[in-house]
Amino acid sequence: MDKVRGVIARAKGAPVSVETIIVPDPGPGEARVAVQACGVCHTDLHYRQGGISDDFPFLLGHEAAGIVEEVGPGVTAVVPGDFVVLNWRAVCGECRACRRGRPWYCFATRTAAQKMTLADGTPLYPALGIGAFADKTLVAAGQCTKVDKRARPEAVGLLGCGVTAGLGAAMFTGEVGPGDSVAIFGCGGVGCAAVSGARLAGALKVIAVDLDQSKLELAEMFGATHTVDGSKVDPVEAIRGLTGGNGADVCIEAVGNPKVMEQAFYARDLAGTLVQVGVPTPDMRIDLPMIDFFGRGGQLKPSWYGDCLPSRDFPMLVELYLQGRLDLDRFVSETIALEAVEEAFHRMERGEVLRSVVVL
Ligand SMILES: NC(=O)c1ccc[n+]([C@@H]2O[C@H](COP(=O)([O-])OP(=O)(O)OC[C@H]3O[C@@H](n4cnc5c(N)ncnc54)[C@H](O)[C@@H]3O)[C@@H](O)[C@H]2O)c1
Ligand SMILES: [Zn+2]
Ligand SMILES: [Zn+2]
Repeated sequence: MDKVRGVIARAKGAPVSVETIIVPDPGPGEARVAVQACGVCHTDLHYRQGGISDDFPFLLGHEAAGIVEEVGPGVTAVVPGDFVVLNWRAVCGECRACRRGRPWYCFATRTAAQKMTLADGTPLYPALGIGAFADKTLVAAGQCTKVDKRARPEAVGLLGCGVTAGLGAAMFTGEVGPGDSVAIFGCGGVGCAAVSGARLAGALKVIAVDLDQSKLELAEMFGATHTVDGSKVDPVEAIRGLTGGNGADVCIEAVGNPKVMEQAFYARDLAGTLVQVGVPTPDMRIDLPMIDFFGRGGQLKPSWYGDCLPSRDFPMLVELYLQGRLDLDRFVSETIALEAVEEAFHRMERGEVLRSVVVL
């Protein structure tokens, strides 16, 4: 076992603290990873706010890259020294989704069997089964995807959650194809990644919608061909105007807001696709006339983690990054120390960053 530092959320709404944690030696099917970089995601803040569960204390952090230090019995997919991106979709191969050949929906993804603890033995609940705001973390070996060592950990660690959610919302859930028009609502880390994904998939028009001018400028840097300031104009009208009066083939909701969801629904062309990647809170509702649901046709698709399959997609995305075709560096707004996660939450809430990334 190892004694290292980790960022802990102890109670609902309380500021996080850096504390000593105990990381067990890996058991069967497990791996211990020396974390090199871990991005700060909204989901970490949701954990600290008690919005995900009440199982405090949490060990936060889940968008990470690092080096495998030790593996437990039976682990062959990774070996000590491998450079890996951590994921929260370690497919089980046995659940009903996996057995039906749809592992990107896996309903029983693997995590470490042993618990990491505080120094006094209190068990910790790692965010999304990862817990990587720590010098080291214990995960299921399947949560480690080996990627090319030449990549920067700060950049490719972000593939572990939000960036892949956005890329996959366009590429996998939305199935954007050559010549499509795509409208992306919300240009934070997830939305800007969706812009990149739409470009990679060959979209002709990539329309970015946000209320914040600086976010629209970022979306343009990621390849948006048009921008719409939703604080000044009606996005539905603007998108129709940019698409010959028809609407976009694919609309991606990357905010988590019922009003935006409704705009994305109506900004679609007939038989178009609406992808919901923004995460709603339990109180949010949508109310649509059934005749519009039927009459507009197409598909409404929630996107969990961009419907990605880490073992298939992370090495490919890292290769696109190394070829200079996927700008992951631009998502890294700043690098920070483990002690600065609380401040980074506030910068995130003020909309000042795409991603703050803890470097260890
Ligand atoms: N589905 C998944 O697997 C998955 C994974 C990671 C994150 N997410 C979710 O994706 C969403 C976006 O995450 P993020 O990190 O990009 O957040 P973010 O806060 O950085 O970005 C949200 C953006 O939406 C903009 N916005 C707010 N209200 C708007 C409106 N009415 N119209 C247009 N734009 C508006 C904001 O200005 C901001 O730029 C969150 O809900 C997050 O929880 C989903
Ligand atoms: Zn499964
Ligand atoms: Zn996340």
